[in-house]
This record gives sequence, C-alpha cells and structure tokens, in this order.
Amino acid sequence: MVEFYSGYALRERAICDLFTSTFSDSEGPEEGAVIGGFVNDMMNTTPNQDLFVWSAYDDEDLIGCIFFSRLVFEQDDRVVFIMSPVAVKTDRQGTGIGQELIGHGLSDLRQKGIDFVATYGDPKYYCKTGFRQITEEFAQAPLKLSFPEGWLGQSLSGAREQPLLGASCCVPALNKPELW
Ligand SMILES: CC(C)(COP(=O)(O)OP(=O)(O)OC[C@H]1O[C@@H](n2cnc3c(N)ncnc32)[C@H](O)[C@@H]1OP(=O)(O)O)[C@@H](O)C(=O)NCCC(=O)NCCS
Repeated sequence: MVEFYSGYALRERAICDLFTSTFSDSEGPEEGAVIGGFVNDMMNTTPNQDLFVWSAYDDEDLIGCIFFSRLVFEQDDRVVFIMSPVAVKTDRQGTGIGQELIGHGLSDLRQKGIDFVATYGDPKYYCKTGFRQITEEFAQAPLKLSFPEGWLGQSLSGAREQPLLGASCCVPALNKPELW
C-alpha cells in the first residue's frame, strides 16, 4: 500500500538517489546529476520554514517525492511557494502517484495558510491538478524563463486572483539559471 509522509529527515540520501535515477531515465544521466545535486542543495541550504517535502512510500521503498519552497514577492504580502521538483520512480509512473503527491502537498500548504503556489513544467500534466498558465505580468519569475509556456500557478486561498506585485526571489538552491 502506498503511504504519504511529509518531511525528509534521515531520508536525504534516498531522496537524492530517487531524483538522480528518475531524471537519468527520463532525460539522460547529465540531467539526472543536475537534479540530484539540486535536491541535495535544497535540503542542505534551505531554512526549515521555507521548505516542505512530501514523499510516497511502498513499505520501506521511496517511490515518489515532491518539493515546495518559498518564493518571496517583496512588494506583496501574500505567502507564495513554488512546487519543484517532483519525481515518481520510473517503474511506478502513470499510476496516479504524482497526482496524489501534488494533492497531499497542496492541501498541506492550504492548511498552513499559503496563498498561492507556482510551478514550472509541462502544462498538460500540471493543469490536471489545478494549475493554469500564468504570465510574467501576473507573477514575475525569479530568473529568466527559457520556457515561458511552463510558468504555472494556482491560488489556494480561494480569493479572487490579483497579480502578485513586484519582483520575486527564490531560495538559493533554485537560484541557478540552468534550472529555469
Ligand atoms: C511527471 C511525473 C512526476 C508524473 O507522475 P506520475 O505518477 O507518473 O503521473 P500520474 O500517474 O499521477 O498522472 C498520469 C497522467 O499524467 C500524464 N503525464 C504523466 N507525465 C506527464 C508528462 N511529463 N507530461 C504530460 N503528461 C504526463 C499521463 O499521461 C497520465 O494522464 P491520464 O491520467 O490522462 O492518463 C513522473 O512521470 C516523473 O517523475 N517523470 C520524470 C521526472 C519529471 O519529468 N518530473 C517533472 C518535472 S519536475
């Protein structure tokens, strides 16, 4: 049975290995190493209050994981997080685990009072879980987007969506042009 947990303490190595192998399978070993290094940085350099991680386990086996980190809009008082990255073990993909992980993460953030969640990826996939394409007039990305069609977001507070004001700033691990 698949179970979902928040947090990553004592699981850092398994989480890095999951991202490295999943992205090596889907994008090649170079990308696998980049994403493995990225999640390692995320866990080692991000203050606790700026990072939420959810994982899926089948018994002791880590089969999926998702990261949410703080995105600060300095001129806006709303609390914003960005969902990135997410991986589901290659041989378990396409069975709903990714969408369940996103669902657990989003309802946790909603309970914590987070107002808005952004992400950057394939709109066809993420629009299944409530994301919609957004423009940089609506929410400025922290770095230059190489794929502006992949800039996505959703409100968690139910309030009518107003553009997020001013420039945004991501956590240091995400502050790398090659990730955007
Ligand atoms: C992308 C990923 C997280 C999705 O998780 P998953 O558990 O395989 O997906 P789910 O089973 O929840 O959802 C399956 C649905 O999404 C679609 N889907 C899955 N991956 C997709 C992708 N990359 N692009 C578009 N659609 C995708 C499937 O076609 C399926 O659609 P259906 O429900 O209409 O049949 C997973 O496939 C993965 O880890 N891929 C490699 C790493 C990656 O690309 N991560 C995302 C970028 S950070």
